Amino acid sequence: MSASKKRWKILADALLTRSISSESEEEVSVRRFRSFDLFPVQSKILDGDVTWHYFLLGSTILKIREVDKTVTKEDLAGFNNSGNVCIWPSEEILTYVCLNNEPLFERKTIIEVGGGMTCFAALAVAVKSFPKYVLCTDGNERSVQNVANIIKANDFPAQKVATATFDWTDMERVEGLRNQFDILLSADCLFFEESRKALVKAIWTILKDGGLAFIVAPARGGSLDNFISMCQTYNFIIHRVDTYDSIIANRHEKLCLENMSYNPDLHYPILLKLSKPILK
Ligand SMILES: C[S@@+](CC[C@H](N)C(=O)[O-])C[C@H]1O[C@@H](n2cnc3c(N)ncnc32)[C@H](O)[C@@H]1O
Repeated sequence: MSASKKRWKILADALLTRSISSESEEEVSVRRFRSFDLFPVQSKILDGDVTWHYFLLGSTILKIREVDKTVTKEDLAGFNNSGNVCIWPSEEILTYVCLNNEPLFERKTIIEVGGGMTCFAALAVAVKSFPKYVLCTDGNERSVQNVANIIKANDFPAQKVATATFDWTDMERVEGLRNQFDILLSADCLFFEESRKALVKAIWTILKDGGLAFIVAPARGGSLDNFISMCQTYNFIIHRVDTYDSIIANRHEKLCLENMSYNPDLHYPILLKLSKPILK
């Protein structure tokens, strides 16, 4: 069994039994550190079983809901459910990086892949950066349904912001999106060993010539390095940025000193920029 399948099985067992006794130290550690607390929540509103979080992005509100946390056996037997657990730190950092580069997204076509239950980065770009079109995707149907609810609640126009189930290993779907996007976003999607190669191929295929991918993920046991070496087999111009912001760098240093649960290999998100050259 591959490392990512094993990881998912351990998490699934733990969720079913509500016990962490069978989890590895790494699994527990991944879940212990959840946030760099970069985005203030102005208010929380309870709507039936669901809590809406009103995130303040500058002066703009983005309403975000999490999926109902009841996990069924069907969920666990189905598509990977890790995107329905929380907004992971890499997604937070991806959002932060995007919002620090707002003009880049103006009038651009954007896709987020593996965006989980919120596609937070893509939706933050949608509210803040005047993109032409934003497509929020994940392979997990429950995540995509939740994103559909979020899009509706924020009154995004359908021709500007949409969501769809998209599995990057489905080559027919990937081909259907060939050369469609100026910018691709992805956070914490590199630990799936069995589909890493397909992800690289999908990014290359989906991006237009001259397109750019922002990928954020922790180094996690060599998975980031392995992804980079797979990217090198394509013609990507690869730019790895370990220190992308002084505020995050300071927070990271403080966490290393003060938080016993913080493990940089598992928790510190690294930014990769992949440029697809324009062919002459
Ligand atoms: C750790 S979660 C990250 C979710 C979100 N980006 C975040 O950081 O909060 C990994 C995500 O990748 C998605 N995923 C895994 N394999 C996939 C595939 N082959 N195609 C599309 N999405 C996939 C999962 O459904 C999950 O939402």
